Amino acid sequence: MLIAVDKLTVYTYNVYMTIVKTASHKTGSVAKPSILIFAGSNRAGSVNKKLARQTSSVAEQLGIDARLIDLKDYPMPLYDGDLEQEHGVPASAEAFAELIKEHDGVIIASPEYNGAFTPLLKNTIDWATRIDKGVLAGKMIGLMSATPGRGGGKRGLKLLHDWLANMRLSIIPEPFSLPQALQAFGEDGTLAPEHQAGLEAFVGQWLQAVSREEAVAA
Ligand SMILES: Cc1cc2nc3c(=O)[nH]c(=O)nc-3n(C[C@H](O)[C@H](O)[C@H](O)COP(=O)(O)O)c2cc1C
Repeated sequence: MLIAVDKLTVYTYNVYMTIVKTASHKTGSVAKPSILIFAGSNRAGSVNKKLARQTSSVAEQLGIDARLIDLKDYPMPLYDGDLEQEHGVPASAEAFAELIKEHDGVIIASPEYNGAFTPLLKNTIDWATRIDKGVLAGKMIGLMSATPGRGGGKRGLKLLHDWLANMRLSIIPEPFSLPQALQAFGEDGTLAPEHQAGLEAFVGQWLQAVSREEAVAA
């Protein structure tokens, strides 16, 4: 298993370097792809936060400039048009929207609530679109979900995909779904080895997609 993971890492990194070198040959510059990662939960013990953290560490290992944030640090009231008219958009929403704009893409790990993604996630993105309707336009998006049960959040992932797909962005084809997540993490938050290759393949998929777009644009 470990050998398979190493091979995958080397393979993904080589593909990435080939694409980036081709692009930099044309432009004279090498920029690391950058990604914003967060969970659609602000619960302290959130399994989706654990997954987001592991994803960030895999991304860094693959040469991506990864920024992990906690939505708890960007508190926003439930969207209310009257509130917006009276007080404007919260500073936390402006900061969040700015972060999205600074990155090439976003990876979201959302819990599934009654077959959908979370109100926290919807509310946060809704506020960000009040600053710029196209805040996510042109971004490369990866979707993940972790659940304690066997479903792995697949119903919520589908709804999240269909909702985001209207926002002029790109979504990598395969989401990452982690069922029985309470058993998947060690006490130190590390992911069990049997899930590691799948997570690397997911981040590798994002990397290849974003690198391909950069090479085409160069
Ligand atoms: C309102 C609510 C609805 C839920 N609905 C689902 C569901 O549809 N499918 C599922 O697998 N888990 C469901 N759960 C359980 C969550 O997957 C579980 O609480 C999970 O730990 C939440 O993610 P987090 O740990 O990242 O906060 C629900 C939990 C809540 C609070």
